Amino acid sequence: MRYLYIFSTLLLFVACNAYHPLAEATVDIDAWKTRVLPPSPQDTTGNPAAGFDFLIHGDYIGSGVPLEIMQDAASKMPQDQPYLRNELNEGIPYFMTAFIAPNGAKVANGNCFTCHAGKVDGELVVGLGDSFSDFEKSMVLMGVGMRMGMRVQYNKKKDLQPEAFEDFGNYFKRMAPKVNTTQPGSNPAFRLAEACMMHRDPKDLTYVDKPLYEMWDYNIGTDTPPLWHVKKKNTLYYNGIGRGSMPKLLLQASVLGTPDSSHSRTSVKAFKDVYAWLLSLESPAYPGEIDQDLASAGKPLFNKKCAGCHGTYDDEKGDTYPNKVVNLDVVKTDRLYADYINQSGIVDWYNESWFATSSPASSFEPTGGYVAPPLDGIWATAPYFHNGSVPTVYQVLNSPERPDRWTRSGDSKDYDWKHLGWNYNPDLKNEKWTFDTEVPGYGNGGHYFGDKFSEDERWAVVEYLKTL
Ligand code: HEC
Ligand code: HEC
Repeated sequence: MRYLYIFSTLLLFVACNAYHPLAEATVDIDAWKTRVLPPSPQDTTGNPAAGFDFLIHGDYIGSGVPLEIMQDAASKMPQDQPYLRNELNEGIPYFMTAFIAPNGAKVANGNCFTCHAGKVDGELVVGLGDSFSDFEKSMVLMGVGMRMGMRVQYNKKKDLQPEAFEDFGNYFKRMAPKVNTTQPGSNPAFRLAEACMMHRDPKDLTYVDKPLYEMWDYNIGTDTPPLWHVKKKNTLYYNGIGRGSMPKLLLQASVLGTPDSSHSRTSVKAFKDVYAWLLSLESPAYPGEIDQDLASAGKPLFNKKCAGCHGTYDDEKGDTYPNKVVNLDVVKTDRLYADYINQSGIVDWYNESWFATSSPASSFEPTGGYVAPPLDGIWATAPYFHNGSVPTVYQVLNSPERPDRWTRSGDSKDYDWKHLGWNYNPDLKNEKWTFDTEVPGYGNGGHYFGDKFSEDERWAVVEYLKTL
């Protein structure tokens, strides 16, 4: 039920399901060397509190399902309340927002915390990616049900709700057949964006029926990154493709139900505040015990073998972070996601669109690698790598120990305090929470940088990582 509405934040569908192989990549990967990506000018004068308020109460999604229907459904949804709501949002789950649509109708839709609030050790953390999301079921029938329900319950001529649902309904129909993933916890946000944008006129973002580019038939998702890394990053997304104005890039994640670029233009001002909120976000401190002597032994090892890519962490001197995108042939983690993005039609669409041509501009610039992310709060962000293929930090640093298949219980309290990550069973097949690294795009190879450590050294580095 919950994900039905979540998807509401998103969008597409091309009737033809012909198999399209990956097209030619837009970046010459062989010539692409590991490099530091420089910062772009940013307006950091926004108000963090206003930004957070906008994320949970703002109208950036533009359209949605009638609020009264959502209010009826709300009692059957998760009841966690990580923040206070305004009057209109009373009783609405944290991952949804009720707002007034442009025509005055009260509607509700998923917000960013559908995907960007997650649980670890039983605690819901705002800004943590939800690694227990389940996008494995097709939402096509849900979409049909929603559209039928709207027709039965509301009168197009007399009621405001049908018009306030229309954009969302259109995009949901397009998106639903394209986004179900093959792995638990894997998030199809990039597919959702692709599926949405291909039905938007790049100049004014209005709905167009005919798709403007093709999408690859194979559906691939990723782990959801924590939002507290944004403050250190010069670029966004796993491969560093998102450049230029951060508020503009952030807005892109939300335009799935907006009517057009003039609505987005209003939102972009508010997204300056959202960026300020992201800059203020801190990673959660490790709540377990830390052996300080062991952690101190791990620090110089980390600074020697890891800091060159992941930066340094120092409460007194301050942190450093190099913003490196590491060549695919160096990091050697599964390259399918990077290759896929590089050849996607969304790249050219974006760079010709309102996002790139209006000021402040943002752009999509493909790279030949993955960003070495900051490691703040790394204990909380399992599973690891862009595809979420490795269940614990320890195994990131010891590749022969990584399981080919691993099944979680689905309960965030099942946390492995020794190896930092999820407890799992390696012997199950086809269970609800089984992650299978044999599936294309979800391989667990690569990042062999911790393999040469002795066992003692490795445990010291794991202990040090608890302090970040
Ligand atoms: C459907 C789930 C979903 C929703 C809804 C969503 N995101 Fe995301 N977000 C993701 C995923 C998955 C990624 C990783 C994609 C990638 O890097 O290729 C991501 C990436 C990001 C990043 C880049 C992080 C980094 O370290 O590079 C930011 C910032 C972000 N989202 C902010 C937002 C905001 C703000 C909203 C609401 C306006 C939002 N997201 C809505 C799933 C979602
Ligand atoms: C040559 C650069 C490089 C070096 C050296 C390096 N890493 Fe990484 N690391 C990366 C990249 C790139 C990724 C992202 C890979 C991906 O997502 O596919 C990564 C991912 C990780 C992750 C998973 C992050 C997440 O949120 O999923 C951890 C943990 C990590 N590295 C720790 C370390 C440690 C500890 C060391 C030192 C032994 C180290 N790394 C050395 C480049 C490097």
